[in-house]
Amino acid sequence: MAHETILVLDFGSQYTQLIARRIREAGVYSEIVPYSLSWEEIKERHPKGIVLSGGPQSVFESDSPHPDPELYEFSGPLLGICYGMQLLTHHFGGVVAPSSCREYGRAPLQKMLKTPLLDGLPREIEVWMSHADRIEQVPEQFEVIAQSDSAPAAMQHSTKTIYGLQFHPEVVHTPLGKDILSNFLFPICGCQGDWSMESFVEETTKQIASQLGEDKAICGLSGGVDSTVAALLVHRAIGDRLTCIFVDNGLLRKNEFSSVLDTVREELNLNVVGVDAQQRFLDRLQGVEDPELKRRIIGEEFIRVFEEEATRLGEIDYLVQGTLYPDVIESIPVRGPSAVIKTHHNVGGLPENMSLDLVEPLRELFKDEVRRVAREMDVPEDLVHRQPFPGPGLAVRILGEVTQERLDTLREADEIVEQEIKAADLYASIWQSFAVLLPVRSVGVMGDGRTYENVIAIRAVHSLDGMTADWVQLPDELLRTVSNRIVNQVQGVNRVVYDITSKPPSTIEWE
Ligand code: XMP
Repeated sequence: MAHETILVLDFGSQYTQLIARRIREAGVYSEIVPYSLSWEEIKERHPKGIVLSGGPQSVFESDSPHPDPELYEFSGPLLGICYGMQLLTHHFGGVVAPSSCREYGRAPLQKMLKTPLLDGLPREIEVWMSHADRIEQVPEQFEVIAQSDSAPAAMQHSTKTIYGLQFHPEVVHTPLGKDILSNFLFPICGCQGDWSMESFVEETTKQIASQLGEDKAICGLSGGVDSTVAALLVHRAIGDRLTCIFVDNGLLRKNEFSSVLDTVREELNLNVVGVDAQQRFLDRLQGVEDPELKRRIIGEEFIRVFEEEATRLGEIDYLVQGTLYPDVIESIPVRGPSAVIKTHHNVGGLPENMSLDLVEPLRELFKDEVRRVAREMDVPEDLVHRQPFPGPGLAVRILGEVTQERLDTLREADEIVEQEIKAADLYASIWQSFAVLLPVRSVGVMGDGRTYENVIAIRAVHSLDGMTADWVQLPDELLRTVSNRIVNQVQGVNRVVYDITSKPPSTIEWE
């Protein structure tokens, strides 16, 4: 079923995904496309309205991104945000000027006119600004609808539904931003709001059923919410013609293999094969210290195990993957290609020579939408809120060689971190919290004796997407309890340290 769609043209802002998410939260399907998409391709998507995102560049730069000029003839509603407003101003003949300093942070605005975009909002509102260039004068056909201390902050075309906002309605620091976006979506674009997780489940199930017919599918489970929800949707469509495979690579957290298997089998009724491949992974990792080599070995071995299990199952036609929308949004060359810092082998990486067709039921969803679908499908809350866990698991949290003994040590320490974070009711609000086993030993004293043992580092970060992160200021008492418990209860550890670096310059994982 085709949904009402709002297109977000991406000019490279860090907030582009947030714009699309806010629109979807309001119940309208929104898609992000590169700013360079041709007018023909834009029209094919039948947008009810188009948003021009912000972006890091200045309209004055010779290589600044500009959309297909036919866009400005669009007869439907257009909303330019930040750089998007500057583009509109520049195109329609207003004056954009470089500011002497960046305007960044909260700013008060005065509403100047009665306007559908700001309908229902008070005369003065607080907004979030983040821009260098400013609008000196709006184009002739436009009128200023809100003003900040320093410049026009919002404008509208006098005869068409074209609007510009110098501030960011999509961020939480613009408290009434949601109302502004709703005004754009409903009265201005005329949307009805036909995007809900309930209808998503229903439509997706039907669509998978008709795509797969009588065919069989296979799905690699990782214990996380994405692969579980992808499997559940396919299971709802084709029942036990879907087989899930959950590989114990020996690098999972304590009791994770058995507890995930129990949940997916008994509570979610999925048809799952659990494969104990611990020794195979451990053998191949013997003597390996280089993080990228660890990743490559684990990725390769996973594919081998997966292929062997699939062969055992006989003829299979489809591979189910939990790919999410942020992975499929076309990357745009606004900032240039980013360097590979770490290769990420996700569990379920496609075994290429199996020639399976892909089913990716979550391709259109953001992570928070996957969580909503999970609730809709009665996935236990524990699993819905599970923190992300890297495919190579504890191997990238044991610095240096991975051995059975070091795995056991890290598992014990990691379990204590998890228990205490959960007991303090912080687990769901933290992006990731875990223990890391360092490749050094330190001197300590226990009783009357000298010890020379392992060091555990604790890492806890807040993040929105894993791309950037900040360390969490965990309460002193919590850190004290975790430290005491680890040195008292985990054999071979006599020191605990807390990692207080953000990403960048560090990364979340230590390897
Ligand atoms: P970094 O360490 O790059 O991590 O800051 C960002 C996010 O990615 C996860 N991560 C991985 N996930 N395979 C994965 O599936 C990997 O090799 C891998 N390395 C890091 C990490 O846990 C964090 O959420």
